[in-house]
Amino acid sequence: TRQLPRENWDYVILGSGIAGLYTAHAASRHNRRVVVLTKHTVEDSNTDRAQGGIAAALGRSDSPALHLKDTLAAGAGLCDPEAVNVLVNEGPGRVRELMAMGAQFDTEDGRLALTREGAHSRRRILHAAGDATGAEIQRVLTEQARLARDIDVRENHLAVDLLVRDNVCYGVLALDQREGRLKAFYGRAVVLATGGIGQLFNHSTNPEVATGDGIALAYRAGAEVMDMEFIQFHPTVLSLPGAPRFLISEAVRGEGAYLRNRYGERFMPRYHELAELAPRDVVVRAILAEMAGSAADKVFLDLSHLDPEMIRQRFPTISRTLAGYGVDITRDPVPVAPAAHYMMGGVKTNLHGETSIERLYACGEVACQGVHGANRLASNSLLDGLVFGGRIVERVEATPAVPVECPDFSCRAMDESGELNVAELRKNIQNVMGKYVGPMRTAEGLEKALAFFEKWEQLEGRHAGSVEEMITRNMLLVGQLVAQAALMRTESRGGHYRRDYPEPRARWQKHIILRR
Ligand code: SIN
Repeated sequence: TRQLPRENWDYVILGSGIAGLYTAHAASRHNRRVVVLTKHTVEDSNTDRAQGGIAAALGRSDSPALHLKDTLAAGAGLCDPEAVNVLVNEGPGRVRELMAMGAQFDTEDGRLALTREGAHSRRRILHAAGDATGAEIQRVLTEQARLARDIDVRENHLAVDLLVRDNVCYGVLALDQREGRLKAFYGRAVVLATGGIGQLFNHSTNPEVATGDGIALAYRAGAEVMDMEFIQFHPTVLSLPGAPRFLISEAVRGEGAYLRNRYGERFMPRYHELAELAPRDVVVRAILAEMAGSAADKVFLDLSHLDPEMIRQRFPTISRTLAGYGVDITRDPVPVAPAAHYMMGGVKTNLHGETSIERLYACGEVACQGVHGANRLASNSLLDGLVFGGRIVERVEATPAVPVECPDFSCRAMDESGELNVAELRKNIQNVMGKYVGPMRTAEGLEKALAFFEKWEQLEGRHAGSVEEMITRNMLLVGQLVAQAALMRTESRGGHYRRDYPEPRARWQKHIILRR
């Protein structure tokens, strides 16, 4: 063992999507020194890819009360109404702040242009550059972080461990991947904003970096995690041989696109009164049923009845990307299938982002304070990152900073043992998750998944390893937690569907909380 080089900061933030960068911005406004550690480049996030938009009750006929109602309905009985109240009431102010920082959302006749998405009773989704909303937000926040004197963004820094003693978090042990060196970053507050887990599945809308690292770090350190069984699959992800799983925004259906099966039949009205704009889990199951019923591995989005000019203007990124694959979205049916998209559960927090470990906070997709319940309402996630990121800073700043003697942590040297075929193991994880822990689950399948994860449990004991090995170990742990919670929940609700228990059950109107 050896002592580590160390740095002292006020805030140590892990992750550089909307939650991490907005938290950094809010902290810097209190003149705090902030380091943001991100395992790849600053823009490599789910935020940067977000298309549809950000929901906020800013329209004339809208109100936070209606936004609350829609969010609770989509959440299938598991939202924490108080958390949702905070989200919908504080959301509009935070979005205005983003605009004041320079985010340019689309307008129509001088007013914000608002679109609809599934399960929203009003037009309330702001968008930017048509279908590149997240990229605009990421641009503004990244610029802000680069300009701010007190924010230091460190790319290629992978968090390896949280420095926790007696249930107090003092900082983070991170690997500077360029220098190949481990360093300790101490802070008054450590904020997890590492995003989701999409890469655990064989088909996902998420970038390579979405491997659930924050959940694994927190769980290992003894934090509580909640609602791990609730995974949202996005209904319409491009399914074209040779093309990546590219998201086709729900806003496309919001503007009137139909879903058709392989026989050309528009099927959604048979499943739900909101047809194509039913809650996501309903649309996903309808698509899977249609695929099974017609022995197909895809269905089709049809925009051919909509004004081609409007489509090209409203969805420039989607139009351009699909044109690159020879698909003209104004005319051709677009082949789509569901893919893993968002994790409703995560590290359990209260309404101030506090986890069960002192001085460890979490916000954004990695966190679970109950705003999304069993199924997130479309376009609520960017909003969630802003609102709860902002709240963490308010809480930290309202807490008197007691001088704390930081214990010294030591570690073993890294080893690049390379014994493990990481690429193959990762493929296996994705296949197991896709097959047994996907949108349709059974006890039998979940038991198989758990048996797979248990076989790899011995890897947990190993402290070091290559970067890829560490990340894969995080994936194994998170996959195991999802499978475990999914096996325990003997009912169907929102993003958790059990073929063997296809209905919701009153006795399960509660959360599953796991702790090491
Ligand atoms: C989309 O554009 O369909 C994604 C919106 C979301 O996941 O909230």
